[in-house]
Amino acid sequence: MTEKRQFRAIKGTRDILPPDSALWNWFEQTAREVFESYGFRDIRLPIFEETSLFARSIGADTDVVAKEMYTFEDREQFRVAHPLSMVDVIRIDEAVAEAWQHGRIPRTPANEAEVLRLHEASQNIDREGAPALLRFLDGVRNLALGDSLTLRPEATASVARAYIEHGMQALPGNVKLYYAGPMFRRERPQKGRYRQFYQVGAEVLGQSDAPAIDAEILEMLLVLFQRVGLANAKFYVNSIGCKDCRPKYVELLREELRKVKDKLGADSQRRIETNPLRVLDSKLPEEQPIIETLPRISDHLCTDCREHFAKLKDELKLRGIAYEENWRLVRGLDYYTRTTFEVTAAGLGSQNAVCGGGRYDGLVELLGGPLTKGIGFAIGTDRVILSIQEGGEVPQLPGLAVYVAWMGAKAYSTAVAIARKLRECGLAVELPPEEMKFKKSLGLADKLGARYALIIGEDEVASGTYTLKRLADAEQKKLSENELLECLESERRGSSA
Ligand code: HAM
Repeated sequence: MTEKRQFRAIKGTRDILPPDSALWNWFEQTAREVFESYGFRDIRLPIFEETSLFARSIGADTDVVAKEMYTFEDREQFRVAHPLSMVDVIRIDEAVAEAWQHGRIPRTPANEAEVLRLHEASQNIDREGAPALLRFLDGVRNLALGDSLTLRPEATASVARAYIEHGMQALPGNVKLYYAGPMFRRERPQKGRYRQFYQVGAEVLGQSDAPAIDAEILEMLLVLFQRVGLANAKFYVNSIGCKDCRPKYVELLREELRKVKDKLGADSQRRIETNPLRVLDSKLPEEQPIIETLPRISDHLCTDCREHFAKLKDELKLRGIAYEENWRLVRGLDYYTRTTFEVTAAGLGSQNAVCGGGRYDGLVELLGGPLTKGIGFAIGTDRVILSIQEGGEVPQLPGLAVYVAWMGAKAYSTAVAIARKLRECGLAVELPPEEMKFKKSLGLADKLGARYALIIGEDEVASGTYTLKRLADAEQKKLSENELLECLESERRGSSA
């Protein structure tokens, strides 16, 4: 007998159910409207890409690439006949040797070992028999012929890849793109941290790195957060310098960190050598007083970076954007240069960053593209929704408008026709598929949260009218079809305003 078992969503993933899904749609729709009002357009990107795209963009030593990516081989295999004759073995051995020579098998050390192993085994099958045949089959199966692919942990690398692939540098002006969708990171799940999470993000790519671009992006975020009622969102801004001044600062930081190494935790000790900037991200309470004494990048920016940062701050003032400077805001991805920023919101505990972003002027070149400046951000939708639910103003979203309570065969055909007309007017209408007593129908209308019940019985059919009952206060009106459409149309406009 087949075992009876229930399936559950994988750890770190979850279902977004109604009515929450309506809140998600509303947030994403509001983001689209705000971004489009700033001249951004939608880009739809693949969910998976070549692993090396992320490794190169985000950086091999970052947590995201080193520990958190969902990577898999896009499997292709040599077809192996069953049962396998000696002729087949020779044919496969020759095909493998030829494919290896012509680079059709990825030249990894693991593949090289398997190619040698299966060739050696094929030579010894006559003498050794089954053990050599098994070694041969193992070797064939272990060949990693496919590309290494990764579920996207973020989308900036994909946008940069698409920018290059489609020659977007030829487009007029700055290229302004936004995206929305799921991202994947194998992190330890907790409140506000998931393995499949959702972002809406935007990127500006082009020839200019004017601080006004950075400021406009922050203004756009402020407008969005205000519109969705995240009034207590806090903006933090920093500059982490460029490829000229940052390496000198990083070296200085490393030297200072080495002096206090013994007082640091294991993670920070390791980062002194791999990525000292990340030590500044540490939340360990015992490291905080030490970090406060470390040299700050703002004192080590080159003239250009210092001016860029000063102009950005003027621009933020001009636009009335309140922010705090945070010299420790270095971000966890390697592609950043100069401006970095984060937005935090209330009600989220330790995972309180609802948005992160910054400039990445060298990224497109790093991926083999033309000289290009870039800046962007991504908002964590899961966290925005949590924050709104935990303390913001949850908006009243229009749910079911009309429940059609009908009784009798004649009433049914009227009900079908009017339900269609009301839906065409943009109203959400529920038409029960089976006849019910009015009492039961109205009870269900109430439980479903409908704003109105439209009652159609024998009386209504005989007089060619409709009875509209407002469920909040039980007010009831008899209306002609035109009056009904007019009344509900004005209610629709009211509820979507
Ligand atoms: P990020 O800081 O890695 O930046 O992610 C941006 C936001 O995504 C975070 O502030 C957070 O709200 C959300 N987020 C990240 N990881 C998780 C998770 N495991 N669970 C829930 N939410 C999460 C980036 O991804 C960059 N691509 C942003 C960017 C765009 N920079 C320039 N352009």
